[in-house]
Amino acid sequence: MYRTHSNGELRLTNIGQEVTLAGWVQKTRDKGFMMWVDLRDRYGITQLIFDEERTPKEIMEKAKTLGREFVIQIQGEVIERISKNKNIDTGEIEILVKELTVLNKSITPPFTIEDETDGGDELRMKYRYLDIRRNPVKNNLIFRHKVAIEVRKYLSDNDFIEIETPVLIKSTPEGARDFVVPSRMNEGQFYALPQSPQTFKQLLMIGGMDKYFQIVKCFRDEDLRADRQPEFTQIDCEMAFVEQEDILNTFEGLTRHLLKEINGVEVGEFPRITYDEAMKKYGNDKPDIRFGMEFGELNEVTQHKDFGVFNNAELVVGIAVPGGNKFTRKEIDNLIKWIKRPQVGALGMVYSRCNDDGTFKSSVDKFYNQEDLAKWAEVTGAQKGDLICVLSGNTDKVRTQLSALRMELAERLGLRNPKEFAPLWVVDFPLLEWDEETERYHAMHHPFTSPKPEDMALLDTDPGKVRANAYDMVLNGNEIGGGSIRIHDKETQALMLNHLGFTPEQSKEQFGFLMNAFEYGAPPHGGLAFGLDRLVAILGGQETIRDFIAFPKNNSGRDVMIDAPSKIDDEQLKELHLKLNL
Ligand code: AMO
Repeated sequence: MYRTHSNGELRLTNIGQEVTLAGWVQKTRDKGFMMWVDLRDRYGITQLIFDEERTPKEIMEKAKTLGREFVIQIQGEVIERISKNKNIDTGEIEILVKELTVLNKSITPPFTIEDETDGGDELRMKYRYLDIRRNPVKNNLIFRHKVAIEVRKYLSDNDFIEIETPVLIKSTPEGARDFVVPSRMNEGQFYALPQSPQTFKQLLMIGGMDKYFQIVKCFRDEDLRADRQPEFTQIDCEMAFVEQEDILNTFEGLTRHLLKEINGVEVGEFPRITYDEAMKKYGNDKPDIRFGMEFGELNEVTQHKDFGVFNNAELVVGIAVPGGNKFTRKEIDNLIKWIKRPQVGALGMVYSRCNDDGTFKSSVDKFYNQEDLAKWAEVTGAQKGDLICVLSGNTDKVRTQLSALRMELAERLGLRNPKEFAPLWVVDFPLLEWDEETERYHAMHHPFTSPKPEDMALLDTDPGKVRANAYDMVLNGNEIGGGSIRIHDKETQALMLNHLGFTPEQSKEQFGFLMNAFEYGAPPHGGLAFGLDRLVAILGGQETIRDFIAFPKNNSGRDVMIDAPSKIDDEQLKELHLKLNL
């Protein structure tokens, strides 16, 4: 037996027991006649003591050869520590070592295996197995496991069945590029890795499975960000015989269950706002509502004066920054610089200070008097002591810019408390989205999303105005899930594909299998998928999903540990009927 106990287990009640422990050497302290070793495993740290008087000589000598990260096994007696360490669970005891076996040596690790390490990102990714030994990473993985278990528990208790769907499939258009896999047995043909199991879960509904879920890997060849990985995990769900309301209730229930079980937080009913409202109030379809700073549209109260910039703008819109009047001139100038950076792209910012005596001082006093500025305050909800920041220009652009400013200010003012959870539903997304580049409409969610029946007539006249039965769940400014009620009849699906620019032949070739299936009694159905990585990161109080994935890719989509992607040899290429044209 390698061990009788873990390194996080022994307490004062174990005093006098003979135990066998195994683990990694976290650190050694050598006083000559006495030596201590911190022995670490997943469960904790136990202090070992080697003592010239009580430890056999050859064991003492062997102990002196131990280095960091050596894997050892020891036998010894649990004794009470003289100087206790209240910071660790096993801090009241130590093990007086009688036997020591070195199970494996370790060369010096490239960074320290401590909570605060000296290793940079790339180095830690290269030696991810060492990084995983560190508490922050280890704890994140354990946390992820707990979330996954609770998800499975909740969904199973609610009659969902976990079913696996294939990974080698035909591409499902979800908006990103596919990763493709060449087929050896079918020359010139390719599988695609699923961007999501969307069509399969719909087929499972047609197959009568009624309630499906799957914790499943999805693959998307898109540019990476802190909240995006090329392979990520969804909690993918689908239900038959449901309306939007049933789905929202079910998954609101799941999220509430997780917040309670994982974070010990009880939240009330999730607010629901429409996409249009979200864009108007927050300039964003995934608003962080832990704080206010809602947009106030100022066209009416600004466009009657001689200020050309505002008069010529499609939208003049502002936010009231709580306590912002305390910003110095320099701080405001820096803020203006910040929003003028190409990443945000604003042309400038107008502001008005709300003084404690009820007066205002704006950057455009030449054009606006106190009465005008009082109206700005009224529209933006500004109080004494606030700062009103105003942007103007093209509606979509200016909303995006002000949204970026709102988030940045919230960050700077410490309003994004990771321990606070503010979930909401954003509903009534547009069905279609105009793409300037290709000059045609794209499905905003995916081509299987059902238009709202009352908007169907608009499909021919004003496609951009058609709303979908589609919804996103947003948590603390992150889209953690999204879904829709699906089309379940062939005619509507064909119509939809037609609007997306597919010819009948292309529709048949790409989606014939689904449209055929619709003809065999497809039940009304709908569903949603959560991004598990995002959900876990946010519940864990963070936003970088990489920290919650055991072996993530770096920003260029590479696994630097195994060095992938990599070249394959000519023989393999030949077998796959591929010829590189580099
Ligand atoms: P959608 O494309 O909105 O919907 O994806 C669902 C959720 O998956 C997460 N997500 C990601 N997480 C990490 N890295 C990525 N690259 C990434 N892309 C998406 C997000 C998102 O909300 N089939 C539909 C679902 C449905 O209609 O039921 C779908 O995949 O949290």
